[in-house]
Amino acid sequence: MIELKDVVYCRLGTTDLAGAEWYAVNILGLEISGRRPGAVYFKSDDRQHTLCYFEGNPEDQTTAFEIGSADDLNRAGATLDSLGHAVHYGTREECELRHVAAFIAFKDPMGNQIEFVLRPDTSARAYHGTRDAGITGFSHVGLCSNDLERDEAFWTQVCNARVSDRIGDAPLMRLGTIHHSIALFPFHKPGIQHINHQVAGTDDIQRSFNFVREKQLTVTFGPGRHPTSSAEFLYFTGPEGMTFEYSSGVAEIHDEPLWRDRQFHFAPKGFCQWGAAPNIAAFKD
Ligand SMILES: [Fe+2]
Repeated sequence: MIELKDVVYCRLGTTDLAGAEWYAVNILGLEISGRRPGAVYFKSDDRQHTLCYFEGNPEDQTTAFEIGSADDLNRAGATLDSLGHAVHYGTREECELRHVAAFIAFKDPMGNQIEFVLRPDTSARAYHGTRDAGITGFSHVGLCSNDLERDEAFWTQVCNARVSDRIGDAPLMRLGTIHHSIALFPFHKPGIQHINHQVAGTDDIQRSFNFVREKQLTVTFGPGRHPTSSAEFLYFTGPEGMTFEYSSGVAEIHDEPLWRDRQFHFAPKGFCQWGAAPNIAAFKD
């Protein structure tokens, strides 16, 4: 069993690095934490970075998860290799570019690009976004899946994710106590389906709803409240069509042995208890 601790960062290719940087700072409210030729790093919490935009193909999207020890990383590499995944061990230069001690890269059964990383950097500086979006940190990703049963089995049987709830056949899965750090949603091709940042409260959700609309960006879902995690949410569109989410009040699961995953409808009422309907392909039948 591959023991993952948490989701760490996303890496997104872009054909317009300056535009993506402008959006990340001025709309999303992230803080620039570093630059390399052709890449900009953003922080949203105490970690060195939780998002990196780099010059490249917008379909080149990677999600990274932290693993506990070098032994665990090597065992994970061997496990993935034995299952037929091509495993790449990060070079020193690649590790340096990711601010991690070591990593392996591979594709999950869907073809999503995944990295398991060892000792990602924490910065000594608190996060201060220039736009007051109320962000408290990067929290979860939605990944695309064209076979939810197969991909749930990968994350819960090869790795240590546990299903907290399902919306239809789409599993919301936790790695620690947070209701979900990874969710899978039906889509025909691999990629990151959405990127979530937590914000402090309802005021931040509502304030961002007006802010995003005023900037003439597309709100794709919300404001609303998820009946699964009980989080209030807002989804909107970012560079290259990426969906970003703010949410607040995500449930934590502390009664681990007693928790039973619940079943929700794959319909607007399964996604929102305030009556909002999603305009997001992967959330629609
Ligand atoms: Fe989400």
